Amino acid sequence: MPDLSGKVAIVTGCASGIGAATLRRFVADGARVFGTDVNAAAGRALCEEVGARFAVQDVSDRALWPQIVGEAVECFGRLDILVNNAGMVSGAGIGDLEDEAMFAAWDRVLAVNLTGTMAGCRAAIAAMRENPGGAKGAIVNIASTTAIAPLPTDVGYSASKAAVRMLSKSVATWCAKQGLAIRCNTVIPGATHTGILDAAEQDMPGLMAAVAATSPLNRLADPAETAAAIAFLASDECPFMTGAEMLVDGAALSIHPGF
Ligand SMILES: NC(=O)c1ccc[n+]([C@@H]2O[C@H](COP(=O)([O-])OP(=O)(O)OC[C@H]3O[C@@H](n4cnc5c(N)ncnc54)[C@H](O)[C@@H]3O)[C@@H](O)[C@H]2O)c1
Repeated sequence: MPDLSGKVAIVTGCASGIGAATLRRFVADGARVFGTDVNAAAGRALCEEVGARFAVQDVSDRALWPQIVGEAVECFGRLDILVNNAGMVSGAGIGDLEDEAMFAAWDRVLAVNLTGTMAGCRAAIAAMRENPGGAKGAIVNIASTTAIAPLPTDVGYSASKAAVRMLSKSVATWCAKQGLAIRCNTVIPGATHTGILDAAEQDMPGLMAAVAATSPLNRLADPAETAAAIAFLASDECPFMTGAEMLVDGAALSIHPGF
């Protein structure tokens, strides 16, 4: 089990699904955690239950990011880990909506999934550079298997998650070139049983069973299984892993589509 004792972590989208599982896992592994979410009630309730701090945050509000990071540092004295987990689907393929609705959906999903992640990396790096004892930290960004094999039914989601993969690599290599011991890696979950999939099922009935069947394991992931990979990348267990990607997809992308 990765040891996160003494580490200070921010987890976005902590109120449900993979974020909630990550928050629980980090606390169990000894970290002091600052959770954020737009869902104030659920986020606060979970943080109170596990002994984490909570702040309401829309990750797409870039002006808020330095404030959130500042609050975490003020609370705990440093920042070691950021998990950019908050995300949403837009539920529209390229020709599915009229212009106004299409571009509104596109702008929103990119603002949350991509710009929110970029703004988080930027604010976290600024804080991690100033950590007592020297610059050090680990950022874990959450993409999706749709970044590799896209959903025809959600162009904005697939495109934003593909961009998150390159964002992570650019952040990782920038930090390395600057001589900063700040790593940035991507976890690529496959179909995981969370609220986002419940919501997508509403738009695309049958999606849940169909995506479960894409894994040779023939099931959805439990969010705790994804959180385990996030905890590993966030820990000091893997100092040479940066700019890397970890698939947590039950081998869904490893099998020939005909089987
Ligand atoms: N569930 C899956 O099958 C799956 C697969 C691949 C990737 N992912 C990714 O995993 C991450 C977590 O998703 P999940 O499956 O746990 O979904 P979820 O819907 O259960 O949780 C997402 C959380 O993010 C919060 N959120 C949404 N928009 C936000 C915003 N603008 N600012 C702050 N918080 C916001 C929601 O309130 C919610 O608590 C997402 O980035 C998602 O794209 C999920």
